[in-house]
Amino acid sequence: MSHSAAAHAVPLARGALPVVGHAMALVRDPFTFPSSLPEYGDLVRIRLGPQTVIMTCDPELTRSMLMDDATFDKGGPFYDRAREASGDGLVTCPHRLHRRQRRLCQPAFTNERYGDYTSAMIATAEELARSWHHGQIIDVNDATVLLTMRSMVKAMFATRLSPAVERQMVDDLTVATGGIFRRMLTPPRLNRVPTPGNLRYNQAQARLRTTISDAVISHRAALAGQDALIAVLLNSHDPASPEALRALSDNEVAEQVLTFFLAGAETTANLLAWTLYELSRAPDTQERLHAHTAGVLRGRPSSFTLLPELTYADHVVTEALRMYPSAWFLTRTAARDTRLGDAPVPAGTMLAYSAYVIQRRPDLYPDPHRFRPERWEGRKPNRSTYIPFGAGARKCIGDRFAHIQATLSLATMTTLWRFDPITDRIPRPAVHATLMPRGLQLRVVAHDPAQTVIPPGPPHRR
Ligand code: HEM
Repeated sequence: MSHSAAAHAVPLARGALPVVGHAMALVRDPFTFPSSLPEYGDLVRIRLGPQTVIMTCDPELTRSMLMDDATFDKGGPFYDRAREASGDGLVTCPHRLHRRQRRLCQPAFTNERYGDYTSAMIATAEELARSWHHGQIIDVNDATVLLTMRSMVKAMFATRLSPAVERQMVDDLTVATGGIFRRMLTPPRLNRVPTPGNLRYNQAQARLRTTISDAVISHRAALAGQDALIAVLLNSHDPASPEALRALSDNEVAEQVLTFFLAGAETTANLLAWTLYELSRAPDTQERLHAHTAGVLRGRPSSFTLLPELTYADHVVTEALRMYPSAWFLTRTAARDTRLGDAPVPAGTMLAYSAYVIQRRPDLYPDPHRFRPERWEGRKPNRSTYIPFGAGARKCIGDRFAHIQATLSLATMTTLWRFDPITDRIPRPAVHATLMPRGLQLRVVAHDPAQTVIPPGPPHRR
């Protein structure tokens, strides 16, 4: 089957420019452009620089692609760049390397483990929320990135890195995640030119690797009997693999930890940032969240055990993930000649899917651009039409980690504070591997000033 056979079967989205194709539309308007794609049908072609990608717009076709991860393997513009950043870790590795890695990493993401991680998540959210003062204007991206990074560091290493190392890691991760997406849109040879941006990206990558490798090596002995995520990885054992591959090597552990940071920190931070943004614009929803959460917690800190009762916070997070699925553009490569629905898909074809495209379809979600946590009352997300964490064997391993972290952090923050807008302006999404609300600032207002420790001081800034 030739590439042109597939090309004729699938329409090309309008507006492709010479050289860049649809890349500008995607970067300039990452919300509107993808939402328009289902107009073309179940599948549509878009051009990103020199590459043509088939985008799935239909939930069932997207699911068929995701469930057959041997045929629709990790690859395509996003993963080719991401692989340069995190090697063959769990997110990026091809199908043939995947199952062993997944089996070895899975023990770090079980129910028993979440009990341990949540104390780190809650302590970090408390610490951040109590560092604010009444009336303070906070930079929401800075706050949420620091929050998720810090609690991941605690959950992974069961320790705190020094503030300087932690700050450097946050900065490096931001440069790394931003770089992966930008590089996807530019021809590979330009990524090798020593521009200041490329140099900064390479430096951030190299520093991240060194920091994490050092932490793995220096913690191996100390962590052997602990509950930290990294200790679980270091001790993990896979009887289904050949003898020499039964455990993860130090290098592999470092690679997976870097992978978890790249896959989990900014995504969860974005989710929280957009959640706070939507809450700030919906005073009734925010009030309902506060009242419900305060009623469940009754002055106690939030906890893993109370999680099942925090139902409204859960609906808020579920709705935010519908409207703002952080991993919004993901790619695949066809490993062999195949079909998707009626369309022939020759080996080597690049494909993409976006939870954003599916989850903002008006035929699937009435009034799709409105934040309505109530739509989840008495309703479970559908496995085809709600895919913020993907589906199939490559589904997010950190889905519960992220959901729990977002729910408990939100409960902790909104018990103490209300978040008020300081402008009517709608924040433009900054296009990264995830979409963050660029420059979003909110004012924190104490529900009960007596409950919050109010140290005077400068606004919280990175
Ligand atoms: C709101 C937060 C998050 C979102 C929206 C998200 C989304 C996703 C999505 C959509 C995928 C599938 C990618 C694909 O189909 O190509 C994925 C995979 C993955 N995610 Fe997440 N993720 C989040 C948080 C996390 C966290 C906290 C971690 C780790 C602690 C994590 C680790 C991973 C890993 C390792 C994979 C690859 C799994 C595999 O291929 O076996 N993610 N994530």
